[in-house]
Amino acid sequence: MKILITGASGRVGGHVTRFLADSHEVTATTRSYPPRGAHQVAWRKADLADPEPWTALLNDVDAAFLFPAFGHTQHFIDAATRVGLPKLVLLSSGAVSDSDDSMIKSVHADIEEQARASGVATVRVRPTVFMANDLAWLPAVKSGEAVPLAYPHAAMPAVAEQDIAAVIAACLTQDVDSEIYDVTGPQSLTQVERLQIIANHVTGADARWADITDDAERDGLPGMPGPPGEYLLRNLARAADEPAPVSFNVQRILGREALDYTRWINEVI
Ligand SMILES: NC(=O)c1ccc[n+]([C@@H]2O[C@H](COP(=O)([O-])OP(=O)(O)OC[C@H]3O[C@@H](n4cnc5c(N)ncnc54)[C@H](OP(=O)(O)O)[C@@H]3O)[C@@H](O)[C@H]2O)c1
Repeated sequence: MKILITGASGRVGGHVTRFLADSHEVTATTRSYPPRGAHQVAWRKADLADPEPWTALLNDVDAAFLFPAFGHTQHFIDAATRVGLPKLVLLSSGAVSDSDDSMIKSVHADIEEQARASGVATVRVRPTVFMANDLAWLPAVKSGEAVPLAYPHAAMPAVAEQDIAAVIAACLTQDVDSEIYDVTGPQSLTQVERLQIIANHVTGADARWADITDDAERDGLPGMPGPPGEYLLRNLARAADEPAPVSFNVQRILGREALDYTRWINEVI
């Protein structure tokens, strides 16, 4: 199959590119540099904010992966309609099905709506929080400092970026039975449990952490200002009351269990 991948230098898009590179005719796009470790794919420099390249890039393509670059997806979707793209797979977010409103929910819902309105057959992949977010804890873990955690006992089924990408790759290349897939990891773990797994793996010592819930509620999450931090904080508060639910779509689509946290950390470090 001829497949076009946007965001190929990203965490998710990079894995999608590598998974499909051997068995399909892949064109990978990024704005600046070729994606690492995917020498056997064609690379084109293209910005989703630019209206020009997409009609030519999408011409004759069987399926395309769209990275949700906020505010910059309409040119790509218009081009997909123009060329009659057979299938679009969109990275979205589990935030779209949240009951309360947030900026993260509305930007992803807007992109989903652009795709729906285009008439192009679209599969929306909605992951929960990425395991990869927790790599931000590494410097403190390595130096033996306490990791600041808001709602340390909030439990979420964080998902491996490899599994999100494997689901996307399957949706691009196979017939699937739904237009929407929620994607989570195999179990809900608290932040402290996840931090302990990382600390065991990296230093073999007990994890050190500090509860910053009150400070974060007053001043926001350190290092994550604005709507993304507000969204994460609200999510953590909700998950502290009730663990977020697990979806079994990884197993259903891929025929194997989702990567658990211990296997994920062994793969990435
Ligand atoms: N982190 C989470 O917990 C979580 C949970 C659910 C959903 N999500 C969603 O997942 C997405 C993040 O995925 P990720 O971690 O794989 O992203 P990432 O690693 O930050 O990669 C971003 C990719 O998008 C490309 N890109 C950005 N703007 C672009 C533009 N204007 N035109 C073309 N390419 C552009 C970048 O390419 P360049 O090389 O050109 O910069 C890069 O390849 C976000 O939309 C987020 O809302 C995240």
